[in-house]
Amino acid sequence: MEIVPAPTRDAAVALTAKLIESRLRDKPNLVLGLATGRTMEEVYARLVASGVSFARCTTFNLDEYVGLPPEDPNSYAAYMRHHLFDHVDIDPARINLPDGMADDLSVAAADYERRIAGAGGIDLQLLGIGEAGHIGFNEPLSALRSRTRDKILTPVTRAQNAGMFGGDPDAVPKRALTMGVETILESRELVLLASGRAKASVVAKAVEGPLTARISASAIQLHTHCKVILDDEAASDLE
Ligand code: F6R
Repeated sequence: MEIVPAPTRDAAVALTAKLIESRLRDKPNLVLGLATGRTMEEVYARLVASGVSFARCTTFNLDEYVGLPPEDPNSYAAYMRHHLFDHVDIDPARINLPDGMADDLSVAAADYERRIAGAGGIDLQLLGIGEAGHIGFNEPLSALRSRTRDKILTPVTRAQNAGMFGGDPDAVPKRALTMGVETILESRELVLLASGRAKASVVAKAVEGPLTARISASAIQLHTHCKVILDDEAASDLE
């Protein structure tokens, strides 16, 4: 694991976007794992501005809320259209998100795993980190060997994400379909981006603390090709 410090949020975002852009230029048929959340909004804005082509790229998002259809403005499908897909030349047939509307979520989860494997696995997975230490929606006590499945969201996560739901944590869906920790670790490369003081303590636990299912993000310590890009505030609790 390599810690990549950046002096400001903008610099951290720019480094992350540049890394993705360069992987896409080197391998236009990249299989790219995507994340949502506030941290990623500016990464996607920079990727759009870069003009890099997504025409041959296949994408897999980490997660989707259960019960929100893709047309719901708070779904992650809508987030991705708004911030990235509507502004680049991606082939819609190559876009993949977990189906949070499936009648049988375990069938949808197994199908998602099959689609990832069918694409040859993920080349580069982009990650944020939640205040509860999650990657994807792998909430505390997610098994390190977990695969795509539905997870109940913790109150910390629902409070963190309430901004998108009129500030009301109760309006945030209670469950999400998410890639598992092991699914994420199977990606050939990981890049985790964190910014801001609110993430400092959990970032320190994830990268310097013990490997523990209490902080799913600590699992990235096991990955041999992983960059953690941090602005000065997010890095401020590191030893
Ligand atoms: C979203 C996701 C989450 C977020 C994390 C950080 O697809 O997988 O793990 O990356 O919750 O969210 P923000 O960036 O909003 O702080």
